[in-house]
Amino acid sequence: MLNESWPADLGPVICVVGARPNFMKMAPILRAFSAHHPALPTLLVHTGQHYDRDMNDRLFVDLRLPHPDINLEVGSATHAVQTAEVMRRFEPVVDAQRPSCVLVVGDVNSTLACTLVSAKKEVPVVHVEAGLRSYDRAMPEEINRVLTDQIADRLYTTERSAQANLAREGIAEERVCFVGNVMIDSLLSNREFAHSPTKTLQMAGVDPAVLDDPRGYGVVTLHRPSNVDRAEQLAPLLSVLREVSEQLPLVFALHPRTRANIDRFGLGELLASPRIVLLPPQGYLEMLGLLAGAKLVLSDSGGLQEETTALGVPCLTIRENTERPITVEQGTNTLVGCDPQAIRKGVAEILSGTGKTGRVPELWDGRAAERIAADLSQWLLARHARRGS
Ligand code: UD1
Repeated sequence: MLNESWPADLGPVICVVGARPNFMKMAPILRAFSAHHPALPTLLVHTGQHYDRDMNDRLFVDLRLPHPDINLEVGSATHAVQTAEVMRRFEPVVDAQRPSCVLVVGDVNSTLACTLVSAKKEVPVVHVEAGLRSYDRAMPEEINRVLTDQIADRLYTTERSAQANLAREGIAEERVCFVGNVMIDSLLSNREFAHSPTKTLQMAGVDPAVLDDPRGYGVVTLHRPSNVDRAEQLAPLLSVLREVSEQLPLVFALHPRTRANIDRFGLGELLASPRIVLLPPQGYLEMLGLLAGAKLVLSDSGGLQEETTALGVPCLTIRENTERPITVEQGTNTLVGCDPQAIRKGVAEILSGTGKTGRVPELWDGRAAERIAADLSQWLLARHARRGS
């Protein structure tokens, strides 16, 4: 430790959140920063990319996230407008706060927007969950990842493949630090508070008896534009879910994008079955309880691939690629793409007991945020000392 107290002239760490998958990553980071000696001063900025009760407020409560110091209230828009609007509203915050650095997590539009603003102002950018690559540039998140990592100053990774990806893109090794997975910090620290699936269904006004199947139940989420934005893609996926539900009851937590598209394309009938429970987006503790008790998970989410690996629950990922290869190599994740036959086969294997098992990857131990706090404080203090101010 270089100092007993934080230098008065070293500004706060601006911590940026924008969308739902950012919240579970930021919660342990904020806690670790305040528990560190000396505590790192922080300012929590919410861009407002996600804003409603289901996508935002419930998660803040569950994750014990403090109320944001500043909310930019950007809301939904096209990629260009959303990104530009975050930039326009974030710039005056950086000017006024004179932060020691700006810390961004994940790969959403807010991550890239705040990175661009900070880098142009020569404010160091810290990226948590750096170096993940799907090598699929049709994914908006891949563009956000590649660009954020190029201009970030300190990059924290969750798995060793990320370091290799960054090296391939010419990012100096000294900028990169392998710390483990803050999303798993959240999972481990909240596991004991997870809500039981029975309670979750009751609270949603659904009779929990639907889950009393000797085979258990499955959990479904879908929200990637590539799966849900076109009827010809979405309809066959919903049909195969309907088939699966005949073997295993399914709980499907519907993202607003997916719900809107099901309505728009008139596909609701495909899901009209007593064996398919449709729920709104769930709180963190409800989802954790549902996942932990599931026989299998069918999803196109990034985070669920990691959470199911940490929980040891088989996950069939409805995507052709993953930026989180360790969940396939070591964890319980299998890529099934959107081919109905592959989905059927994956489900059949799990139900017959020949599905894949896995192990928890290196440093997914609940202490990643602590490692970030330790490294970042040293890094900022050393940089401060070098600048002699
Ligand atoms: C965004 C992220 C994605 C992440 C996902 C998690 C980008 C490019 N994408 O995608 O990486 O996996 O969040 O959800 O940043 N909406 C609401 N309430 C809200 C927010 C959104 O109803 O609080 C609706 C709006 O109709 C909106 C749509 O959901 O148009 C999509 O929201 P948006 O933030 O544009 O993208 P996501 O699909 O959520």
